[in-house]
Amino acid sequence: MSKILVTGGTGYIGSHTVVELHNAGYTPVIVDNLSNSNIKILDQIEKIIGVKPEFHQFDLCDVAKTTAFIEANPDITGIIHFAASKAVGESVVDPLKYYHNNFFSLINLLNSYREKPINFVFSSSCTVYGEPDVLPVTESAPVKKSTSPYGNTKQIAEEILEETANAYGNYNIVALRYFNPVGAHETALIGELPNGVPQNLLPFITQTAIGKREKLTVFGSDYDTPDGSCIRDYIHVVDLAKAHVAAIKLLEKGNPNGKFDVFNIGTGNGYSVLEAIKAFEKASGKPLNYEFGPRREGDVIQVWGDVTKSTKELGWKAQLGIDEMMSSAWAWEQYINENPLPLD
Ligand code: UD1
Repeated sequence: MSKILVTGGTGYIGSHTVVELHNAGYTPVIVDNLSNSNIKILDQIEKIIGVKPEFHQFDLCDVAKTTAFIEANPDITGIIHFAASKAVGESVVDPLKYYHNNFFSLINLLNSYREKPINFVFSSSCTVYGEPDVLPVTESAPVKKSTSPYGNTKQIAEEILEETANAYGNYNIVALRYFNPVGAHETALIGELPNGVPQNLLPFITQTAIGKREKLTVFGSDYDTPDGSCIRDYIHVVDLAKAHVAAIKLLEKGNPNGKFDVFNIGTGNGYSVLEAIKAFEKASGKPLNYEFGPRREGDVIQVWGDVTKSTKELGWKAQLGIDEMMSSAWAWEQYINENPLPLD
């Protein structure tokens, strides 16, 4: 079966995608520099799928290593490119790190394939929509000026990919615009491993419930939403992983929409921060210690996706709901508490 390169394959979304690629009959090959992930994830993946995926540790910003790897692996037919820096706050403090890591790796990978046909799936984000004017937001909504260098790397990368696909004949590209990935594999053997204090909601909730954090602060209680807290389209990471398999299949078949395309990957449902907390309390059976705090700068008030295009054209739809998202995130937090995988 086809060999698929998964860059960032030991990371949160990458590891779940490696599992789903294997389940769909593909042979995933991981490249990761382990800058924000742990080598032990390979053993965890093996426990789930029964084989240890092929793994190569290097930085895709290294032109020589990237070119040599691609030349040594001519049987790779598709690339799913997760490897990138992703912390919004850090990107504001150190924008050059973000422009360096996220662009050099992307351009090196693309440059290694100037002639051979290659299917390419890119990790984009609903952050490209900013605060949408119309909800649910569709793929044709305008891309708004980004509020962070991280978000800007996603917008510019989409432009680079579209221009590349249109200029050369050999690239078939899909950018998946993720909404808010949460949850963990049903085995609780892989999940999100936040580096330091979590910035995202779900790991902060689960770490508070397990006692690693004293309390969650809900950022803002006076937004113009039904309960005053922000609304997001949370999506189970396993559904998200399956969307990558669907994207590879679409590219293998030939995308009738052309050489470059974008898809929203969400559930189409919005949940407020307070609703997410309630869903977590129900799934875990534990009351959560939280308080209201000021708004977080740069936060979008509400966003959820129109998933009509991905349902019809990608042939993919999220299957798991908020209860599964919360219970799997909680099972993973308990597992990791008993079996720590420290990030070196
Ligand atoms: C954030 C990024 C987004 C990025 C995504 C990657 C910002 C502004 N956006 O999305 O660009 O693609 O992460 O995962 O940083 N919340 C709390 N308390 C907390 C943490 C979060 O109330 O301790 C709230 C936030 O205000 C927000 C919701 O929970 O309303 C979700 O937050 P988060 O998980 O950080 O995701 P986004 O902000 O949507």
